[in-house]
Amino acid sequence: MNRKYRKTVIAGNWKMNQLCSGVKPFIEQLREAMPRTKTCEVVLCTPALMIPAMVRAGKDARVAAGGQDVSKYEKGAYTGEISADMLLDAGAKYCIVGHSERREYHHESDSLINEKAKALLAKGITPIICVGESLEQREKDLTMEYIAYQVCAALSGIDGTQVRRCIIAYEPIWAIGTGKTATAEQAQEVCEFIRGVIRKLYGARSARAVSILYGGSMNAKNAAELLSMPDIDGGLIGGASLKPADFAAIIAATAQE
Ligand code: 13P
Repeated sequence: MNRKYRKTVIAGNWKMNQLCSGVKPFIEQLREAMPRTKTCEVVLCTPALMIPAMVRAGKDARVAAGGQDVSKYEKGAYTGEISADMLLDAGAKYCIVGHSERREYHHESDSLINEKAKALLAKGITPIICVGESLEQREKDLTMEYIAYQVCAALSGIDGTQVRRCIIAYEPIWAIGTGKTATAEQAQEVCEFIRGVIRKLYGARSARAVSILYGGSMNAKNAAELLSMPDIDGGLIGGASLKPADFAAIIAATAQE
């Protein structure tokens, strides 16, 4: 983390879990368990239906609401889609784009992810842009090449002012939901590399202002070590964000100096 230059962000990704009726009790338990923090932005990215409940419950607890996906289209005949305007109207401040599960199961391309990020920026919603290599790519030593490609593609046509409003999440696919976390050194190496890619594209000032998160089996036990790394500005947390006590412990791990 480097609080001097950028925000620390702990974001939960509930994926397709929980129910609207469970949001309020969850936040009540989280509030009891989590430390009061002014230095860490806490976000829960829920299925779109739960955003209004999250906005209501999260207000006093200082938990911001986020979506998990957005349409690239502004409005119109796109059955089943949810626009950036709708997310904004519901109260979302953040939205994940390019999660590896959407890339894999919904065949999302890098150019689609880029369009989605732009759709969010146009409405003032912070995109949390996910990138990450597969195990095969890591084993073939292609990690950095692939990450550079993903970052450049996701940020294509986004200017220097807008990039400072983006968050990048490094989520190695082999670490998601597997219990196999990247070591703090592995995660730092790639997050530092991502900042270097942003520096090349936008210069040092922009690069140091962008928060870069790590995601992939982050939990109450390993959070402090990951967060002690200079280029890891927070976490994008799946499984552990479904349990208030675990999520609270990860938020508490940002309190270190
Ligand atoms: P897990 O924390 O369950 O590994 O999930 C990570 C993730 O995909 C967050 O977006």
